[in-house]
Amino acid sequence: MAFLSDTLARVKPSPTIAVTTKANALKAAGRDVIGLGAGEPDFDTPQNIKDAAKRAIDAGKTKYTAVDGIPELKAAICDKFRRENGLSYTPAQVSVGTGGKQILYNALMATCNPGDEVIIPAPYWVSYPDMVLLAGGTPVAVAAGIDTAFKLTPAQLEAAITPKTKWFIFNSPSNPTGAGYSRAELKALCDVLLRHPQVWIMSDDMYEHLVFDDFEFTTPAQVEPKLYDRTLTCNGVSKAYAMTGWRIGYAAGPVALIKAMATIQSQSTSNPCSVSQYAALEGLTGPQEFLTTNKAVFQRRRDLVVGMLNQAKGITCPTPEGAFYVYPDISGCIGKTSAAGTRITDDETFATALLEETGVAVVFGAAFGLSPNFRVSYATSDAALVEACTRIQRFCAALS
Ligand SMILES: Cc1ncc(COP(=O)(O)O)c(C=O)c1O
Repeated sequence: MAFLSDTLARVKPSPTIAVTTKANALKAAGRDVIGLGAGEPDFDTPQNIKDAAKRAIDAGKTKYTAVDGIPELKAAICDKFRRENGLSYTPAQVSVGTGGKQILYNALMATCNPGDEVIIPAPYWVSYPDMVLLAGGTPVAVAAGIDTAFKLTPAQLEAAITPKTKWFIFNSPSNPTGAGYSRAELKALCDVLLRHPQVWIMSDDMYEHLVFDDFEFTTPAQVEPKLYDRTLTCNGVSKAYAMTGWRIGYAAGPVALIKAMATIQSQSTSNPCSVSQYAALEGLTGPQEFLTTNKAVFQRRRDLVVGMLNQAKGITCPTPEGAFYVYPDISGCIGKTSAAGTRITDDETFATALLEETGVAVVFGAAFGLSPNFRVSYATSDAALVEACTRIQRFCAALS
């Protein structure tokens, strides 16, 4: 359509949303569907956070605020970085936006020029490449497969960097794999980056609090202080505090970048929701027990899902360090035919047949840039997970 922009032609709608829409349509038609596609905790926002939001409304905190966040929240974010990550930032180095998504988008919009390359390890969160494209840059996906536990190696990073590389997007624990880089693995990547001063690091730490066993979360500016001046450390309250709908994300980095991001935000959305900012303030400064309880539930579900999926014929499911996703490999299912007669040629046909024949909705791996796999979000009840994994086992057993 001639009316639409060239920019729009560069991007595609989110495939994860497409899967959810299809699952909902089947549900509405009366089918028994179990959705394992959602990227959000199934818990409710903690009561103390909801109460803080109600108090903010009653106190009239319902007007425009400073474009990139109220001072109280910026101060709390500085405390959070000091307390949890050993990172020292001033409020002028902090930006608050409408979700982690807007923060990442602002940063790319504020920095990408045509020809600028952005390195994105694959599988990746679906929005990274499209946000780079919207910002006019060139996404450079580098496949990190099951053989390296879905983690980019220093040699791969080195090989992907060119004089045009502007950003390296780092996401640990990762959506969609749950893979988390150890301190040593991250340090090895940082050593590569030290040799390339033109490359900035966008660290997406959204799943920081969802790490299991004795995994230690670390972030680039902490592991290699020499990268502090070219790192944007991004985070948010969506996943940690079960606040996806409140839309608050934040980042800290060099003042000039933070100011540039505020300029983009001032001419697009202005401040993030005032009430949500007070809710996030309570999240970051109030009781933190929720994080531990949450984590224990997710760890139990991870073990359940990994155990059951590894019993499905043709599926190999690595055990991830964090987040609430697993990313099983389905090489053993490709080329086979389902009970209803669908030939499984790739992960998309697998996911479609699985949904149509068993009512289990998962997102196919091609959406995240690495195949043949699918993503399971285990942010749902244990009973639903057991039922879904049993159906997946049956589906795989019937492949011939
Ligand atoms: C890796 C990653 N980064 C950022 C986000 C965005 O989070 P928010 O809901 O705060 O915009 C998500 C949400 O799915 C995510 O998975």
